[in-house]
Amino acid sequence: MQRSVKLASLFDEFSRNGINCTHLKVDSEPSPELIDRAVSLGRLKNFDVVAAVGGGSVMDAGKAVSAMLLQHHSVERFIEGQEGVMVHDGRKVPFIAVPTTSGTGSEVTNNAVISRVGLGGYKRSLRHPAFVPDVAIVDPELMLTASPSLTAASGMDAFTQLMEAYLSPFANPYTDAVALSGLEHFSRSFVRACQDGAGDVSVRAEMAYAALMSGMALVNAGLGIVHGFASSVGGLFDIPHGTLCATLLAESTRENILQLRQIGADHPALVKFAKVGEILGGQPSGSVSDGCDRLVARLEELQSMLGFPRLGEFGVREADFDGILAVTRSRSNAVKLGSDAMKRILSARL
Ligand SMILES: [Fe+2]
Repeated sequence: MQRSVKLASLFDEFSRNGINCTHLKVDSEPSPELIDRAVSLGRLKNFDVVAAVGGGSVMDAGKAVSAMLLQHHSVERFIEGQEGVMVHDGRKVPFIAVPTTSGTGSEVTNNAVISRVGLGGYKRSLRHPAFVPDVAIVDPELMLTASPSLTAASGMDAFTQLMEAYLSPFANPYTDAVALSGLEHFSRSFVRACQDGAGDVSVRAEMAYAALMSGMALVNAGLGIVHGFASSVGGLFDIPHGTLCATLLAESTRENILQLRQIGADHPALVKFAKVGEILGGQPSGSVSDGCDRLVARLEELQSMLGFPRLGEFGVREADFDGILAVTRSRSNAVKLGSDAMKRILSARL
């Protein structure tokens, strides 16, 4: 209600100032058809600017529409990993991002995720350095009305992005600083944002900051196996992105740590996992091993406290695993995972 009142007053303000606008409602993660339809309508109207006000799906849709208004092909021709993919020249209509959830960090990233869900489906990016929004208005007051379940799923997406970017082999001192700062803010505020602090603007501001940092970290360092599955499982089954990340995070972290320990107890990535465990647990760990164990225990605690649904609830079966693994990429994961390790993660969350 509060959101729609704010939107109505925004449109009134536009009209008082002689600004013509067209409103497109986006209810789900954007498909190529949704983008193409919006673009054909927009080409007739000669838009000066595209503004997206909403969650991750709305950000991605707005970013893709702004990127396609000056092009003459379907968006599908420019999506990464597609056969005969065309190189985008970066020309676009200026884009303003106004997030109303704290999750994807899309307000500062250079990509828009486009989904075609089902057999042979995909969830992949339209990407170009020019697609970083020209303006991002990050106002925690707009996030006060996000439901507890949306806050939990999108918050876990932000956390996953922060931790995966921090653990990426492509991380550097800059992305580490950004990710650690985001993790600290997340750890102070996440549970409160899902519970009694949901109406507290300072709690929402901390989560908004964490999500913003996650976008800055991921665009520079890449992401790990949870987001590898988010793309593959998410292309085959209709599962919201944040929910998918949230349900796979604890098991993926456990498997990553197990594989790293087999390489060596002093592996630098284990030191980083332990650091995340310290931040999330709010107290120093006795050792690297202790920090890693605490991290997994805390993630399991959050998983059971917030009740993230299992993959089986969305129709995923063991018989689907080989098909999933065939299209799962995790080049930026903390450690190389074999097919047995990946199947253990999926199996534990069926
Ligand atoms: Fe994500």
